Amino acid sequence: MFLPTTTTAATTATTAAATRFLGAADVQRLVRRLGVPACIAGVAAQIETDFRRWADFDKSARVAAHSDVGVIELMPVADARRFAFKYVNGHPKNTAEGLPTVMAFGLLADVATGTPTLLAELTLLTAIRTAAMSALAARHLARPGSRTMALIGNGAQADFQALAFRDLLGITTLRLFDTDPAATAKLQANLAGQGLAMQVCRSAADAAQGADVVTTVTADKTRATIVTPAMLAPGRHFNAVGGDCPGKTELHPDVLRAARVFVEYEPQSRIEGDLQQMPADFPVTEFWRVLAGDAPGRATADEVTVFDSVGFALEDHAALVWLADAAARQGLGRPLDLVAAPADPKDLFGTLAPAGESARTQVATEQATAIAA
Ligand SMILES: NC(=O)c1ccc[n+]([C@@H]2O[C@H](COP(=O)([O-])OP(=O)(O)OC[C@H]3O[C@@H](n4cnc5c(N)ncnc54)[C@H](O)[C@@H]3O)[C@@H](O)[C@H]2O)c1
Repeated sequence: MFLPTTTTAATTATTAAATRFLGAADVQRLVRRLGVPACIAGVAAQIETDFRRWADFDKSARVAAHSDVGVIELMPVADARRFAFKYVNGHPKNTAEGLPTVMAFGLLADVATGTPTLLAELTLLTAIRTAAMSALAARHLARPGSRTMALIGNGAQADFQALAFRDLLGITTLRLFDTDPAATAKLQANLAGQGLAMQVCRSAADAAQGADVVTTVTADKTRATIVTPAMLAPGRHFNAVGGDCPGKTELHPDVLRAARVFVEYEPQSRIEGDLQQMPADFPVTEFWRVLAGDAPGRATADEVTVFDSVGFALEDHAALVWLADAAARQGLGRPLDLVAAPADPKDLFGTLAPAGESARTQVATEQATAIAA
C-alpha cells in the first residue's frame, strides 16, 4: 500500500484508497529493465493462467464508438477479485499525422470495495499482450517445427510479434512486407542482432512463399484482402491480427472456409474479426477450449489453421495483473489521488474545506501522521 505524497488535510486521509499510477515513462522503464522477451513471456504465462480460468470471468464484447476514421473502445472484464478495463483506439490514418494507430491505458480495481488500485499506460503492453496471445495460440495451432514466418505489416505491433514468435514458437526467419518500406526498415533495425534472419519481400504473396506461419498485422480501415486463396498452403497457420473492427478485414472469405478457425471470445469476434464476413453459423473454436483440453488444436500436419485475433479484455486483464506485480517488484509507479477518500466516508462535503481548515480533517491529518511515524 502506498502513502500519499501530499500532506493536505483532504488527501492525507486517502491512504486506504491510494491508486498506483504507471505512466508511459514508467512502463518504458520497466520494459527496458526486464527486456521485451521477459515481458512477453510473463504476460503470455498470465494470459494462459487467465484463459484456463475462463469460467471465472464475467465477459462481454467490448463497447465501440465508431467514426469515419477510427474507433474508440472500452474493454471490461471481472472475476470475483478484480475488475479491469482498457481504453483503446484504432485510427489507421494516425501515423500520417505523427500519432500512433493504437493508444491505450487501463485500470484495475478491487471488486470487494470498488477501489481503483492501478491506472496504467497500456500502449506498450497492448503490443506485448497481442504478440503473446498470438504466439500462445500458434503454439497449439501452427505446425510443430515451424521456423519461417511471413510478417505482413511492419508497424508498431510487428516487432513484438516477431520476438514472441521467436521465443514461444521457435521462428528463426522472417519474410517481411509492408506497403511502406520505411516501416520494414524500422523493423529490421530494431531486430538486428536478435537471432532472426530477415528477408524483405515484394508483396504479401511473395512474403508467404515457403512460410509456415503468415502473420498479418496491417492497419487500414477497409475490407482489405491481404491474404488471398492463392496464399493457402497445406499446414500453414494464419495469425490474423489487423482485421479487428467492423468493415476492417485482412483475409479473403475463402481462406476462412478452407481453414479451422480459432477465436478469442466468439460474440466479439463475430462482430469484429475477419469472421464478420462469414454466416452466423460458420464454425469456430474459442481458443480457451484448446488450452482446457476441451477442443483439439491443430489436428493434422496438413490442415490450415487461422487465429482470427481481435484482442479480448481478458488479455488486458492479464497484462494489467502482470504489470502491477512487475512494477511493484521494480519499485516503479507512484500514488495517484484518483478518487476522493474522505477521512469520514460519509463526509464527502467535508473534503471541500480549504486544506488544514476543517477541524475534522485536521484530526485525520494528525492521526495519519502519527500512524506514518
Ligand atoms: N488483434 C489485436 O489484439 C490487435 C491489437 C493491437 C492492434 N491490432 C491491429 O493491428 C494492426 C496494426 O497495428 P499497428 O499498431 O502495428 O499499426 P501501424 O499503423 O503502426 O502499422 C500498420 C502497418 O501496416 C502497413 N500496411 C497497411 N496496409 C498494408 C497492406 N495492404 N499491405 C502491407 N502492409 C500494409 C502500414 O504501412 C503500417 O506500417 C491495426 O489494424 C490494429 O488495429 C490488433
